[in-house]
Amino acid sequence: MEKKVFIKTFGCQMNEYDSNRIYDSISKIGYNKSEDQNNVDCYILNTCHIRDKAKEKVFHEIGRVKKIYRGKTKPVVVVAGCVAQAENQEVLNRDPYVDIVIGPQSYHKINDILKTYVNKKKIEETEFDSVSKFRYYDGIENKNNSVSAYLTIQEGCDKFCHFCVVPYTRGPEYSRPFNQIINEAEQLVKNGVKEITLLGQNVNAYYYKENSKLYKLSDLIAYLEKFNEIKRIRYTTSHPKDMTEDLIECYKNNKKLMPFVHLPIQSGSDRILKLMNRKHKVKDYLDVYFKIKKLNPDVEFSSDFIIGYPGETEKDFSDTMALLEKVRFVNSFSFIFSPRPGTTAANLKIINREIAKKRLAIIQEKLFKNQIELNKSMENKNIEVLVENKMLGQNKLFGRNKYLSSVIFESNENIIGNLVDVKIINSNQNTLFGEIRKKMKAA
Ligand code: SAM
Ligand code: SF4
Ligand code: F3S
Repeated sequence: MEKKVFIKTFGCQMNEYDSNRIYDSISKIGYNKSEDQNNVDCYILNTCHIRDKAKEKVFHEIGRVKKIYRGKTKPVVVVAGCVAQAENQEVLNRDPYVDIVIGPQSYHKINDILKTYVNKKKIEETEFDSVSKFRYYDGIENKNNSVSAYLTIQEGCDKFCHFCVVPYTRGPEYSRPFNQIINEAEQLVKNGVKEITLLGQNVNAYYYKENSKLYKLSDLIAYLEKFNEIKRIRYTTSHPKDMTEDLIECYKNNKKLMPFVHLPIQSGSDRILKLMNRKHKVKDYLDVYFKIKKLNPDVEFSSDFIIGYPGETEKDFSDTMALLEKVRFVNSFSFIFSPRPGTTAANLKIINREIAKKRLAIIQEKLFKNQIELNKSMENKNIEVLVENKMLGQNKLFGRNKYLSSVIFESNENIIGNLVDVKIINSNQNTLFGEIRKKMKAA
């Protein structure tokens, strides 16, 4: 019998990718994707554990689901993702409304688990088994047919930054076989996808050897560029230590690789980077930055910053602000340090919250100003936009420019999936508003 499933996704792009693959998988046992979360047989929460707030959101959401289904038939409630992996049995103990807990490396078992969960016995599955997971994904069609799609090529992390849960929630670094990735890219192309974003917690650590041939991220980019149908290629998230020369060189010649590098630095102080166990210095980061800028001045950088890491002094913070004078970061993220259980920094003395909040406000003001300036600099210019979708109930289309900024413009034309030329009329911090000039390349 046909059943309905809704997945609520939290956290990073890797969770979005997994949620789509879970839909692909469980459609094989009769679960169809529903847009209406109020009336389903199975409710999956794909969760994030990166900061405490992210984790707490999950338990609020379970409370909300309980309310929705009060007086109705209870759906099977599944907690998947990084909270599932980190807290496993604890999730079941904390809220008996949850029926199944499944970690991100066990999704190849989800169909069997849902089939065997006939009645009332709670299930917890949090084994690390990336090989089986991706072999399983390889055997089921990726049905994603959006204009822009994610494709996970690497998972996990061996770097163990002292603040971070990822090595514990996603396990050791694993790179998918090259051919598996290409097969999946071909499926996406067949579905009409025009932009592929290659994903990994350390995507630029991608390293796959077969028959004495070594494949790196730069090889994947070069291979994907040959597909006529693919208009744009992106990758995220990178670690500065793995920005190797071959990858840097891609910014010289590759026409489809977008000139936008998301490269988290976390702090502009070498002292703090060392305390964080980041394995790179500010100079290493700047070397990469200047090399890429020299090859292609059009490239813009974005970053992640952790503010108020234990031990961060005024001097350390002013070093971070000084870095922002050297690099005009755009589209960046900044958060106050959140202690995560099980990580090395979990029990360090945290700095005064008010001071951390003030520092966050200062850095965000600067980062937002950069964003506003970049967007303003595009006003009255024609920029290339990949049209992703029509905005609900409006005569407007939504797309993104090369730096991943949102662009909204009026049009009645059927141009979703096309690269078009849009004249920017107006902008704010988050969005560019424009009018269509001409279609650039046929889709
Ligand atoms: N692998 C990437 C790298 O090397 O920078 C980062 C991936 S992590 C999933 C995304 C971002 O979350 C990090 O760059 C960091 O800024 C932030 N983050 C991770 N742990 C955090 C914590 N305990 N508190 C605040 N922010 C955190
Ligand atoms: Fe987390 Fe990135 Fe550090 Fe790995 S490299 S521990 S994912 S911040
Ligand atoms: Fe969150 Fe897990 Fe991604 S902790 S950021 S969902 S890898």
